[in-house]
Amino acid sequence: LRATAIDNPVRQRAAKAGIDLTALPAHIAVIMDGNGRWAKSKGLMRLLGHREGYLTLRNVLLAAGELGIGCLTVYGFSVENWRRPESEVSGLMKLIEEAARNELKNLVANNVQARASGRLDELPPTLHAALDELRESTRQNTGIVLNLAINYGGRAEIVDAVKDIVASGLPEGEVTEDAISARTYSPDLPEPDLIVRTAGEMRWSNFLLWQSAYSELYVTQTTWPDFDESELFQAVLAYQARKRKFGGLGESG
Ligand code: IPE
Ligand code: IPE
Ligand code: MG
Repeated sequence: LRATAIDNPVRQRAAKAGIDLTALPAHIAVIMDGNGRWAKSKGLMRLLGHREGYLTLRNVLLAAGELGIGCLTVYGFSVENWRRPESEVSGLMKLIEEAARNELKNLVANNVQARASGRLDELPPTLHAALDELRESTRQNTGIVLNLAINYGGRAEIVDAVKDIVASGLPEGEVTEDAISARTYSPDLPEPDLIVRTAGEMRWSNFLLWQSAYSELYVTQTTWPDFDESELFQAVLAYQARKRKFGGLGESG
């Protein structure tokens, strides 16, 4: 029903842009890169780029939800990002916590299910608590899932899954791909159909290594603070032009 009804302005604009509303990616994951470059190009401090990036996320989340995307995973802080200067790290931690607290009401009102994926117990306790609260307060919502990858690393996630398998004493014969998938941070989410990277780098940066085996990749030169609804549409259009084969021959085979 939802797939055929052109029922809101975002979907109207999407259809006009040529998007097939019946073939949307269920899960889009975004490497939100380029905040620093955006700030530098304007002569601003890097943290102001991150703040602008937060505002972009608000808008893109709303657009994706209205469009009918089931899940949006966003890379907010990697396990490698601790290597940055202490002032940037602490500024980011403060910004994420402030955003989590400020957005709680809006997320509830907009029917968003928010959660976080990563080594959350290594975060400042007040941020960890804010993320837990976000998850609990939006648990009953039925709209788009916002999955915040914070202190996230793809390798760390696989290590954590393997640790869990060893600790559980799972017999060797039961160590399967499904067993590993079941121990990832968000096992209930579908694997991403589309991974978007802003700001042009052609690399993975340790994002969703396990789940991205057959994700389609889309890289735009646009920095994250300049990303918007029309950029989202372009990514979805590019995705819809791809032929996914999953190792087989595809439909024409
Ligand atoms: C992405 O922007 C946000 C985070 C990694 C937290 P960057 O801060 O990496 O921006 P650039 O790559 O320096 O432009
Ligand atoms: C990836 O961006 C991490 C996030 C977007 C949070 P980085 O800016 O950290 O990646 P590299 O260092 O350019 O690979
Ligand atoms: Mg970067």
